[in-house]
Amino acid sequence: MAELVWRGKGRARRARPLALRDDELHGGGAPGNRLVHGEAERVLPALLPALAGKVALVYVDPPFDTGGSFDYLAAVPGERARVAVPAYRDARGLDTWLAWFHGLARDLEALLADGGSLYVHLDAHAAHYAKVVLDEVLGAGAFQREIVWRIGWISGFKSRARSWIRNHDTILYYAKGGRPATFHKALAPYPPGYVRRDGAPPRGRGIPLDDVWNASAADRLDSIQIVSFSGEKVGYPTQKNEALVSRIVQASSNPGDLVLDCCAGSGTTPVVASRLGRRWIACDASPVAIHVARRRLLSLAEPAAFVLQRGARARAEERELGVRVERIGREVAIELASYAMPPVPGAPRRGGLRWIEGWSVDWEGRQGPLRAATSLWRSRRGELAMRVVQAAADAPRAVRVRAYDALGGQGTARVPLGSA
Ligand SMILES: C[S@@+](CC[C@H](N)C(=O)[O-])C[C@H]1O[C@@H](n2cnc3c(N)ncnc32)[C@H](O)[C@@H]1O
Repeated sequence: MAELVWRGKGRARRARPLALRDDELHGGGAPGNRLVHGEAERVLPALLPALAGKVALVYVDPPFDTGGSFDYLAAVPGERARVAVPAYRDARGLDTWLAWFHGLARDLEALLADGGSLYVHLDAHAAHYAKVVLDEVLGAGAFQREIVWRIGWISGFKSRARSWIRNHDTILYYAKGGRPATFHKALAPYPPGYVRRDGAPPRGRGIPLDDVWNASAADRLDSIQIVSFSGEKVGYPTQKNEALVSRIVQASSNPGDLVLDCCAGSGTTPVVASRLGRRWIACDASPVAIHVARRRLLSLAEPAAFVLQRGARARAEERELGVRVERIGREVAIELASYAMPPVPGAPRRGGLRWIEGWSVDWEGRQGPLRAATSLWRSRRGELAMRVVQAAADAPRAVRVRAYDALGGQGTARVPLGSA
């Protein structure tokens, strides 16, 4: 079998597993769903002791050596303005990228169950190198399909290229051991007037999807990045469609299965996995990605319980939060009072509280991870309740409140109830 060689191959030192601490428990944090802030090359080794051979499906959309820097375009509550927050840089050089990806592929292979599925989302910058690396790590027999995802109708800047217009991503699909444990065939509905080649009406339930996606009237899956008014866009660069990830999750996993995405960005994979009743682990190295993913997960109609974990040095920017707490009989009322937001270049001057996108309350107020039993988020129309009233369960001694601002910073306050 052919093997790809790059400068330094075989000499790369394995990264040390990250010591993960629980930072927030949402909805009780119970069933093993984890949003992890840390670098994949250190998070995956930390998962291995407990989870080797347990993951049914990996979807990963890694940075792939495009040389770019990517900003999250944060919406400023109540304004049309957006503020650019650096999300991640994607500039490693091919040798470094290959060493990184090779390590990642080995850890992902070890985490996958027998017959587990791996989907790696790339484009022509890296797909061909990645294919050879994945063949080496999983064995060439594990390779299933090269899926071509047509991005859609391209106009404007991209269509000015003096070449064929670039219009597809590549998704490499593997099954550990060569035989997928799960594959539910996906069918596109017959378009109106559809007839078989012999002119007879169709007898099946739809047209089986092939490995070229979004390239026919029956299979519409345009990238949200080219749809000007997609309600799905959250401002995160390179955010992928929920429909795209749903297709993969539905085909290659079952309810209750464990799904992993180690470069999860805005959280598309855990959002889809939550909706479809899968367990999930999602990790990202960017603090603002974690912020956006947490907001999306907690804004779902039925948010799944999860734990937010961080590596020792991974944290969000801290701001000072002021809270008013009042005990009214057997109830406790909490109100956000102040939020020390630093000046934001390019954004209108406004009070700190107006930057808050959401907040959580831990009614037990103990040290350790925030047990966020209540979470409130700004609605699509921009409304956010600044006060919440709750029955004081068995006279807690303190409450803890954490507020999350639009730029990914946060403030935490602990208020002893004796002084309330
Ligand atoms: C192409 S984006 C993923 C977008 C995602 N699929 C979505 O729908 O939002 C790649 C992500 O990889 C993250 N990333 C870059 N280097 C990483 C690393 N070493 N470990 C974990 N995540 C990393 C970036 O922060 C970025 O969010």
